[in-house]
Amino acid sequence: MQFDELRAQCESCTRCGLCQGRTNVVFGMGNPASPVMFVGEGPGQHEDEQGLPFVGRSGQLLDLYLDVIDLDRSKVYIANVVKCRPPQNRDPLPEESETCLYWLRQQYKLIHPKILVCLGRIAAQRLIEPKFSVTRQHGEFIQKGSTWFMGTYHPAALLRNMSQKPTALADFIALRGKIEELCPEVYQGTGK
Ligand code: URA
Ligand code: SF4
Repeated sequence: MQFDELRAQCESCTRCGLCQGRTNVVFGMGNPASPVMFVGEGPGQHEDEQGLPFVGRSGQLLDLYLDVIDLDRSKVYIANVVKCRPPQNRDPLPEESETCLYWLRQQYKLIHPKILVCLGRIAAQRLIEPKFSVTRQHGEFIQKGSTWFMGTYHPAALLRNMSQKPTALADFIALRGKIEELCPEVYQGTGK
């Protein structure tokens, strides 16, 4: 299955109850040929309205961190664990995440990232390990198959608690090092 076909299928998904409250499905954005993928939790209000991931305040902060390590949205791919906005921005229920992971798994298979960064606990506990602690394990690269996974603070958490910003920045600088080691082409402007 090709990426555009997958997107079209996902955009009409009614597999879980979150389909009822959404304005738009937020499938993902960026370069699906990139070896670097970011995964957040799920759409908030702005994302739901625009159909794009990380376009609110958290997204502005994410763009800033990407910029610090000379990346932007054209050089990476950005998606979420759940594609539809949970009501009142509550955490996705385990069964909603489990159901929606079907789509993320298909994206992962087609993108085949060398590096996958989990933004926040929800993504890290789903994709790295169920007991992942951002406080204790942020910035650690863990290899699973051909992909290196790393979890770091969610930008929304950094907006709430700015004392963690330097730590998150250090994680992004470590990410830059890992990209240079594993897929330096990202920095040579050629994609994968
Ligand atoms: N928070 C997320 O986890 N994902 C988004 O797309 C926006 C905010
Ligand atoms: Fe489908 Fe995911 Fe939206 Fe649920 S959250 S309706 S599984 S796209």
